[in-house]
Amino acid sequence: MRFNIAVLPGDGIGPEIVEEAVKTLKSVERRFGHEFTLHHGDIGGIAIDKYGVSLPEDTTETCRRSQAILLGAVGGPKWDDPRAKDRPEQGLLTLRKDFDLFANLRPAKVFPMLIDTSPVKPELLKGVDLMMVRELTGGLYFGKPKKQWKTSRGRRAVDTLTYTEQAIERILRVGFELARTRRKKLTSVDKANVLESSRLWRQIAMELAPQYPDVELEHMLVDACSMQLIRRPSTFDVVVTENTFGDILTDEASVLVGSMGLMPSATIAWGEGALGLYEPIHGSAPKYAGQNRVNPIATILSVAMMLRYSFGLVEEAEVVEKAVESVLEEGYRTPDIMQEGMKPVGTREMGTLIAAKVGGGE
Ligand code: IPM
Ligand code: MN
Repeated sequence: MRFNIAVLPGDGIGPEIVEEAVKTLKSVERRFGHEFTLHHGDIGGIAIDKYGVSLPEDTTETCRRSQAILLGAVGGPKWDDPRAKDRPEQGLLTLRKDFDLFANLRPAKVFPMLIDTSPVKPELLKGVDLMMVRELTGGLYFGKPKKQWKTSRGRRAVDTLTYTEQAIERILRVGFELARTRRKKLTSVDKANVLESSRLWRQIAMELAPQYPDVELEHMLVDACSMQLIRRPSTFDVVVTENTFGDILTDEASVLVGSMGLMPSATIAWGEGALGLYEPIHGSAPKYAGQNRVNPIATILSVAMMLRYSFGLVEEAEVVEKAVESVLEEGYRTPDIMQEGMKPVGTREMGTLIAAKVGGGE
């Protein structure tokens, strides 16, 4: 089959990890006889430097012509001036919003051979396999008013947490549907004891529940959830939550898995022919850029999610996931997941090993 993929490496370590993920895509292409046409584009700080904007029209156009976007990471100290008009992160947020990429899936599955790279006790980590569903186009990230200003008594700032019924319903439905395909348990996370938007969220979750009688729905306050995620992580199946809570909880979930460098994500607009955005959950790690030391696995697993969710290539996705597992089983480790007696490798070596496995090579 033929697919167009927009490739947006971004800043910091973005280009290095994307390059490794592209190796895997090429192996899949060869082994299964597909045709992936890659269209490169700029986003983030590099786009600000080149064109003066974090998301150039050219990039948006490239994405419009593609079925999926593979993104590295954006941001860095060079563009961190709080007074700047545009910021690298803004490019990513605009991209998510423009294409209505509202359903962000962030799986956290513990690899048995990496269990002791996590600071959490191994007995708590057995069988951890959860899917966080983060709402990605609403909440504090986009609500208006959003500004800083000066008053006679000093400076002030506001961000707005707002959600419509429609936005809540569609993300909750994604949660319910996914739970159906898994262990049939949905945890809806909110702060309904304090926030009005959360009270609406919880109400809608309760209204939808009768339509999914096969799914067990529980509600959990976000503070309690952040604790239970560490105390009893294996009891979670699908977790659905609003944008900011999801941002925070997914970084926390990466501690269970052992490293941010292992955490992929898929963002889907849902429905026929919808565009998908695939990116690791970690940032641009500018201090590690160009050192061949970061872990490309999060990005490679994001490619597996692309194959599964955007292209419907389930077998191919599984081949990529198995390739990652067998390279880890053979003992290859980037510095973030290094364990005693294992074989140290860099970004490029890890990417090459995984791509070779996908391609049937040894
Ligand atoms: C993420 C990142 C982004 C977010 C940043 C870079 C804007 O932290 O994808 O989790 O907050 O959504
Ligand atoms: Mn984040």
